Amino acid sequence: MSELAWWETAVIYQIYPRSFQDSNSDGIGDLPGITSRLSYIAGLGVDAIWISPFFKSPQKDFGYDVSDYCDVNPEYGTLEDFDELIERAHELGLKVMIDIVPAHCSDQHVWFQESRQSRDNDKSDWFHWVDPKPDGSAPTNWLSFFGGRAWTWEPRRQQYYLHNFLPSQPNLNHANTAVREALTDVARFWFGRGVDGFRLDAVHTINADTAPYQDNEPNLSFSPGDLPQQQQPFFRQLHDSAQLNQPSIQRFSEAFRTVADEYGDKFLMGELHGDDPVLASQNFTAPGRLHATYNFNLLAWAGLNVAGIKSAISDAIDAFNGTGRLTFAFSNHDVPRSGTRQLAPLGLGADCQEALQLLLMKLETCLIGSTCIYQGEELAYDDVQDIPVDLMQDPWGIEFAPVFQGRDTCRTPMVWQATAPNGGFSAGNCTWLPIAEAHLKRAGLDEAARSASVYNRFAEFLRWRKRQPAMMTANKMTVLSGDETQIIFDRVSDDQTLRCTFDFENLTAAFEEI
Ligand code: BGC
Repeated sequence: MSELAWWETAVIYQIYPRSFQDSNSDGIGDLPGITSRLSYIAGLGVDAIWISPFFKSPQKDFGYDVSDYCDVNPEYGTLEDFDELIERAHELGLKVMIDIVPAHCSDQHVWFQESRQSRDNDKSDWFHWVDPKPDGSAPTNWLSFFGGRAWTWEPRRQQYYLHNFLPSQPNLNHANTAVREALTDVARFWFGRGVDGFRLDAVHTINADTAPYQDNEPNLSFSPGDLPQQQQPFFRQLHDSAQLNQPSIQRFSEAFRTVADEYGDKFLMGELHGDDPVLASQNFTAPGRLHATYNFNLLAWAGLNVAGIKSAISDAIDAFNGTGRLTFAFSNHDVPRSGTRQLAPLGLGADCQEALQLLLMKLETCLIGSTCIYQGEELAYDDVQDIPVDLMQDPWGIEFAPVFQGRDTCRTPMVWQATAPNGGFSAGNCTWLPIAEAHLKRAGLDEAARSASVYNRFAEFLRWRKRQPAMMTANKMTVLSGDETQIIFDRVSDDQTLRCTFDFENLTAAFEEI
């Protein structure tokens, strides 16, 4: 009955490979581990998987620092393991999306290793190299998202290079055609291996302008939030058009789309932010560019109350109603887990976690466009708040510890069976992040075998959703209504109008054809 492309209504299950399933007892998840768990994912009734980076990398930012875009990091397996994974996923009816990190690579990538040597090598113009100001200071006032300046000095070239994240993640120079071609070749490599789409990492941080670069303006409306990461100096600046969201980035999205179209029914989903995220998303999804953008509105670190959820959705819907060009998510590998994060702002206790998690997943999968469910949401996992500082792994958390816990809290390994060593994640002696004891009460395979589990109730809901013409044949919804405890909207197609009511007092969802 669907007239829409697969990605316009897709429910996408995000896998963080390091923490999904270890198959060789080294305490780190890997590709064969994922393959062994694909039937668990397919049993949920989702349409696709998105696997966070598993490419060669020194793992300074856990794979978002790639040193070879066309090979697998040995601790995750081999290219043959990936081929087996994709074959099995397709047999199970799952599309496969992978992450690509186009804005920056690792300082260990041969491109940067060569580029940093001198001002006249073959790759000398592949990164943003800039002379110091006459007083020796950095070319602009830009700051790195992970703390400190966005410019680092390279004595061999007597120049600064740009990095919007860690100094070990130099930004590629997208003004250089050869760089864009190298990245579109990466897309061809993976499309050729059968991938169905890409989640494009941090596309707003691609830098495609050339020197002289402009300073960021101060953010005069900045007020430090309650959370330490909201108090970072980075947020005291406005970024759009100077450091981030440069209009020239669109040369990249257009080149990438052209390649995707050569392979047919593929999906390009850009992760982006900006001073004006809706405008940035509209720019990135203009005809001939990306298919959709990943919307951050529901991912607020401190969580949202009902009014906050409503306005987060309305802002995006106002701009995209009638299209499938946006993707919603309540959780991912970068923010505290929603089952825990959302309790306080909604005035709920921990005993409500299962019911709340199920309600949030139903809500997001009833919105227009696609949805990303992060591994463990289907099990209503807690965010893990008690990781000792000496076991922390996330470089962002380590930079701001102890006031900020970073992103390890949502990245601890999945557990599969309460009684197995390490919850069945790994047969090794230790795991890269600790196993969360609290998760053992809702281990994956145990929950898949229990009919009243969140996993099974969500699976039943997704089966029902697939049968609703209003959800599957048109991406239209009405504006949201409801009081401070309810969110109500209609999903509308030619054949059906479905009133969807989400009640945050009783934690129930109700659907009525009208
Ligand atoms: C990813 C993060 C990563 C950053 C830098 C993102 O937005 O989701 O995990 O640290 O990009 O690549």
